[in-house]
Amino acid sequence: MDMNTEVALVTGAGQGIGLATVRRLLEDGFHVVMIDRKSEPLTAAAAALEAEGASVEHHALSITDRAAVAALMAGLPRVDVVVNNAAVFWDGKFNETGEDDFRKMYEVNVIGTFIVMQEAVKRMNRGGRIINVASRAYLAGYAHAAYGTSKAGVIGLTRSSAIDLAERGILVNAVAPGLVETDMFRSLTPDRQQELIAKQPTKALGQPEDIANGIAFFANPRTRNVTGQIMTLDGGRSMGISLY
Ligand SMILES: NC(=O)c1ccc[n+]([C@@H]2O[C@H](COP(=O)([O-])OP(=O)(O)OC[C@H]3O[C@@H](n4cnc5c(N)ncnc54)[C@H](O)[C@@H]3O)[C@@H](O)[C@H]2O)c1
Repeated sequence: MDMNTEVALVTGAGQGIGLATVRRLLEDGFHVVMIDRKSEPLTAAAAALEAEGASVEHHALSITDRAAVAALMAGLPRVDVVVNNAAVFWDGKFNETGEDDFRKMYEVNVIGTFIVMQEAVKRMNRGGRIINVASRAYLAGYAHAAYGTSKAGVIGLTRSSAIDLAERGILVNAVAPGLVETDMFRSLTPDRQQELIAKQPTKALGQPEDIANGIAFFANPRTRNVTGQIMTLDGGRSMGISLY
């Protein structure tokens, strides 16, 4: 790897939106560091990319493991972009959400994101760009007491850290996807999937590449002077369905 090549780190890179983001950032000229908790799909995805000649490396670890995240960051030649995409999801009505479930979701989606951000900024000596993957669910959602709250936490973390990190030349932004065709979406029942698609003004299911495109905008070194912003990529649903 040429030392002038910018390095982008993507969490949850083994599949779905994370993997589409890896592909897009490779097209945009980054060396990409792929991270995922699940070793097998991560290794297979990285091997397929390497076979195509892509400049990637992969590390199986959980974003909640600070020591592992710190060791990884310390070993990288530079860190320019971090995409905090890894998260867990399950539906659960408010009354049926146990405290353990609530803590578990917060542990990965918010604290894991916080850990990766904090360890990455130690290496961002010449500035950098952080993109957090939230969800339209931060606004509210049926049976989303835990998930929606965790994603509201990601938005709060994005906006507050954007203020603190601006003086170091680090831009922090977020994307808030709506429905996207990945395993996370496929974990819903077919009826629920159709019900949700019908609520989107576009009546279309987003693709991982649509979200990667928004992430690539914030990751691009030509995107300057933009921080603390949320790009909502949700087929227009956040405008309010009562309008239609
Ligand atoms: N798919 C959707 O409809 C949708 C909608 C809104 C937001 N999102 C958000 O987009 C992001 C990606 O979602 P996706 O649909 O591609 O999900 P996915 O479940 O297909 O992929 C998530 C990846 O994150 C990894 N991961 C989970 N916990 C981890 C941890 N502790 N450490 C490291 N890796 C971990 C998983 O192993 C998996 O590979 C998530 O932040 C999700 O909340 C998705």
